[in-house]
Amino acid sequence: MNKRVRKAVFPVAGLGTRLLPATKAIPKEMLTVVDKPVIDYVVEEAREAGIEHFIFVTGRNKGVIEDHFDVQFELYDTLAQRGKDDVLADLQRRQPLPGQTSFTRQQAPLGLGHAVWCAREIVGDEPFALLLPDMIMQGDKPCMVEMVKLFERTGGNIIGVQECDPAETHKYGIVGQGAAAGNGFAIDRMVEKPKQGTAPSNLYINGRYILQPQIFDLLADQERGAGNEIQLTDAMLKLKANQPFYGYHFRGETYDCGSPEGFVEANLAFALAHKGLAAKLRPTLQKLLEDTDQADTPRRKAAG
Ligand code: G1P
Repeated sequence: MNKRVRKAVFPVAGLGTRLLPATKAIPKEMLTVVDKPVIDYVVEEAREAGIEHFIFVTGRNKGVIEDHFDVQFELYDTLAQRGKDDVLADLQRRQPLPGQTSFTRQQAPLGLGHAVWCAREIVGDEPFALLLPDMIMQGDKPCMVEMVKLFERTGGNIIGVQECDPAETHKYGIVGQGAAAGNGFAIDRMVEKPKQGTAPSNLYINGRYILQPQIFDLLADQERGAGNEIQLTDAMLKLKANQPFYGYHFRGETYDCGSPEGFVEANLAFALAHKGLAAKLRPTLQKLLEDTDQADTPRRKAAG
C-alpha cells in the first residue's frame, strides 16, 4: 500500500531576476495574477490534491510569504466590524490551520536540487509533492490532483510533463516516453536542459513532481550539473536506477510567471477565465488588438 502524499514542498527562494525591478522588494511569488498572488494558485492546486502540510523553502527578503499565510488578526477583526463577511470568509477559507505550514531557508542559491534538499527534515520519511511556484496552470483537471491519482495506482515517483516547441527543449528537463501506465506512462529517459538536437522527446518537466524521500540522500551527494547548480533532474536520474518513474501528461496550459511574457500571459488568461472580469475585459482587449494592428500595419495605416 502506497503511503499517502500529505506534504508539499514549494521552493520560493529564487531572486526573480527576470522580473526586476518589480521583484526588487517584493518576492516574485507575491506578484498578483488578476486577484491573488502567484503562490496562491500553486497552494490551492496542492490543497485540491489533498495536501495537508505546506513546506516553503524561502530565502532572505521572502518574509512576506510567511505573513501572507498567517492569521492577520487586526484585518480580520476590522472586516468583521465593517460587515464584510464575504471577504472575511474568503480569507478564512484560504487560511492554513495552525501547524499546517513550515518555513525553512535555502541559505545559498545552489539550485533547485539544493532547495528541495533543504526541506528533508520537515518532509521526513514519506513521499511528497513538489510544486514549482513559477509555473501556474489552467486546465479542466488540476495537474497535481491527477498526479496523486496516478501515484495511488503506481506508487514510485511521478513527474508532470507537457509538450514544448522542439526548438525550446534546451530550456527544460526533458523525459523520454516508455510504456503506458494508468493515466500516465513509464519514463525511460530524463535529461536536464539537453543540448539542441539531443532531446529524447519534446515532453518537458512542467514543475510538478511526486517524489520518494530517498531523493534526499541522493541530493546530499549530488554534484553540480547544468548551469553549475545542483540539479534535481540529475538526482532523479540516480533514483531511477532503483525506483520507477512515471510521467503524467498534463493537457492544460502552463504559464511561467518567472518570465515577463509568461506573467503577462497568465494575467490575460486568468482574467479571461474570471467570471466577474471576462465580459468587461473582452471588448477592451479586442479594441487594443485592433488599434495596435492598425498602428503596426503600414498598408492599413495608409488606407485609413
Ligand atoms: C526547473 C527544472 C526543469 C523544469 C523547469 C520547469 O528548471 O530543473 O527540469 O523543466 O524547472 O520550469 P529551471 O526553470 O529552474 O531552470
